Amino acid sequence: MSKLFSPLNVKSITFKNRIITSPMCMYMAEDGFASDWHLVHYGSRAMGGAGAVMLEATAISADGRIGVGDLGIWKDEHIEMLTKITSFIKSTGSVPAIQLAHAGRKGSTWASGRESRPLMPDEENGWEVIAPSAIAFSPTMQTPREMTLEDIEELQQAFADAAARALKAGFEMVEIHSAHGYLINEFLSPIPNKRTDHYGGSIENRARFLFETIDKVKAVWPTELPIAVRISATDWMEDGWNIDDSVWLSKKLAGKGIDIVDVSSGGTVPNAKITVGSGYQLPFASTIKRELKNQLLVGAVGMITSAHQAETILTNGDADLIFIGRELLRNPYFSLEAAKQLRSEAPVPKPYELAF
Ligand SMILES: Cc1cc2nc3c(=O)[nH]c(=O)nc-3n(C[C@H](O)[C@H](O)[C@H](O)COP(=O)(O)O)c2cc1C
Repeated sequence: MSKLFSPLNVKSITFKNRIITSPMCMYMAEDGFASDWHLVHYGSRAMGGAGAVMLEATAISADGRIGVGDLGIWKDEHIEMLTKITSFIKSTGSVPAIQLAHAGRKGSTWASGRESRPLMPDEENGWEVIAPSAIAFSPTMQTPREMTLEDIEELQQAFADAAARALKAGFEMVEIHSAHGYLINEFLSPIPNKRTDHYGGSIENRARFLFETIDKVKAVWPTELPIAVRISATDWMEDGWNIDDSVWLSKKLAGKGIDIVDVSSGGTVPNAKITVGSGYQLPFASTIKRELKNQLLVGAVGMITSAHQAETILTNGDADLIFIGRELLRNPYFSLEAAKQLRSEAPVPKPYELAF
């Protein structure tokens, strides 16, 4: 049996294999509502055999959206359609997961596929963006309003309320989006966070927003279900957040009972020089995995596109879980094919057996 297709128990949940559909914004929602489109999209990845299907960055408040078409979980009415999606994912033996997100200063955009443009607050569908400090991401984007302590408390509560709705909708894992330069990452990184109160300055202060958010989410999320946190392991900038900070953070996350750290990178500044290539973020995951010594599970992501590449990552002990993004957009049945290539039991839906 390959490592990639060996089951993994995390708390009360069993992942039938180590492949997780990486969260990917589709920008196909209206007012945050999922539709049949999302059911078919996420359902296809579940039928395609992924161990878990994680829904895209799903906004915890309307002004926490990246783009107008983001999925949302800021009101109870969103729960009904999300429940259909989780039921279907579960019926395939896959684990339904959801990424909870607030876009911070990178919000208020119109986006679709390769196209994206910022929306100013006075433009149709635009809204005022908020962030730890009043520093714009780029000259073409809004200068955010600096968050007050009331805003901080309100948004942390919104994360918890969103987690409670996710539970009602049948999700078995939540991931707190703390990567890619969105709100929580904006607190963590010293580049966008120039606060002088106890949410800025030292690394402990910059991590406070995330830690308090985790505490609030844990108050509503059952102890027997896993919680993941996606981080940007580096800003790819000399004066920014770096891998040593990420090792420090991962140790703290383990201490807080977080089950999985999902190791991505970048997104805090527009001008970072990122060396992109096959498995380009893997060294960050493997450093954290080595330093953490099994205190929590480590997810690797980024241009992992073949069964053998994924298997090697696991057998080398560089990560515990493989998040796959674009390859699963190209081929929702990647996991079924990967199982065959690794001579493992393929999680093939019965009616598809003759094809495999
Ligand atoms: C269309 C698209 C949308 C994405 N949306 C999200 C998102 O909602 N949340 C997130 O953390 N990452 C998002 N990402 C990043 C992916 O989850 C993944 O980390 C990245 O694409 C690298 O992995 P890959 O090479 O396997 O695609 C997105 C990527 C793509 C291509």
